[in-house]
Amino acid sequence: MEKRFVIIIFGGLGDLARSKLYPVLYNLYKRYHLINCSKIIGTGRRPNFGKEEFIQILKDSIKVDDSKFFSLFEFVKINLDKVEEYKNLKEILSRFREEELIFYLATPPFTFESIVINLGDLLKELPNKRKVVIEKPFGYDLESARRLNRIIKEYFKEEEIYRIDHFLGKETVQNIFGLRFSNIIFEGIWNRNFIDHIQISALEDIGVEGRLGYYDKVGALRDMVQNHLIQILALIAMEPPCCISENAIRDEKVKVLKSIKEIKYEEVPLYTVRGQYEGYLADEGLSKSYTETYAGVKFYIENLRWDGVPFYLRTGKKLKKKETSVIIVFKKIPGLFSKLLDCTPQEDMIGFKISPENKIILSFQLRPLGSSILSCPIPTAMEWSSQNIEAYETLFIDIIKGDQTLFIREDEIEKSWEIVQPIIDFWKNDPKIPIYPVGSFGPKEAEDFIKKDGRVWRYLQ
Ligand code: BG6
Repeated sequence: MEKRFVIIIFGGLGDLARSKLYPVLYNLYKRYHLINCSKIIGTGRRPNFGKEEFIQILKDSIKVDDSKFFSLFEFVKINLDKVEEYKNLKEILSRFREEELIFYLATPPFTFESIVINLGDLLKELPNKRKVVIEKPFGYDLESARRLNRIIKEYFKEEEIYRIDHFLGKETVQNIFGLRFSNIIFEGIWNRNFIDHIQISALEDIGVEGRLGYYDKVGALRDMVQNHLIQILALIAMEPPCCISENAIRDEKVKVLKSIKEIKYEEVPLYTVRGQYEGYLADEGLSKSYTETYAGVKFYIENLRWDGVPFYLRTGKKLKKKETSVIIVFKKIPGLFSKLLDCTPQEDMIGFKISPENKIILSFQLRPLGSSILSCPIPTAMEWSSQNIEAYETLFIDIIKGDQTLFIREDEIEKSWEIVQPIIDFWKNDPKIPIYPVGSFGPKEAEDFIKKDGRVWRYLQ
């Protein structure tokens, strides 16, 4: 018999739960993935709030009135800082002696430590199997990530910890692995002999969206680069795993992170660029803030495959458009060929479009229709696209099944903080931040940053 489980969502009235988790749970319910789910418990600290109000929140969130689905839910009022309030939860949980308990920390990052400690104490008295899911950012810097890992490990085993990064659940991100390791035509050229450079971008047209309390402390580097973008880099650059096991894949990701060339403190201005959108202070009612809403970093990977190939990572808010993508830019064809054609064809590219659509685009050069055999070729594209499956849905299924492949391991999280730590330190001590216009592609400094290497930022259609 399949194991039964109970899901407990800390931060059950919060933005993440309402905008993502409840709709995802509803989809899973409709697709019979919650058949073994005995209960879903949402926690919150709001006074005078009960089952009726909670159901209203669920209704607003999934936009459907489904009383059978709602009957799975229960609300428990807890102020998560107060250890004595966890007894309300314990009472409910002791009704489920056989079930596995899945705790989802959908709360602001600064609450993680105290929740884990209070929860860990409560769990000492319960016999159930358990899992804990922790949102990003995991920690605030290298030191706090190490401390959080230490605390969690006092109460949970690594096999019980799911450090979630929702970008890993995105369809196109998962296709990077598939495309690389099941197609010989790509594997042969996936290296420094053929690739000029790689761009990994997460451009957003939205701003901070009411999350100022979190965002202003964190900024674009911690919010997006340390986790989402470095994870994508690892999938693009990793070696094939020895076998298909959760740890074999994660071992390879860690190995590539360890090969990233360290950016020394004094080198930070050479390897990075940042900016703040014009009006951030006024929009958010701040008198002063040096928080970056745009971050760009150039990394090198020191191994045989990637030596000398720059990886440009960038992300920003209130930019011209939403585009999350990876663009692999190949080298120009050798001079002899261009001489033959009397022109220099553009570089070939493979583009992974991650948001807003799922696409893989192969861009190569062909002579224009009907022109002479030696005419200068022009870029031509072949495109594959698929529908979107909500990333959290894929990841939730993995959590229920107990598959940790797409979750971040302890060593992986610490390594990625180590990589960005000198940048955090340098930016903290250097309050000069370029301002960029809303609706642009970022600060002028970001254009110069890549131009000085003889390259330009690329975009997908
Ligand atoms: C989150 C960041 O992790 O990812 C947000 O905290 C960002 O600032 C979001 O907007 C982007 O995710 P998606 O899936 O909308 O591209």
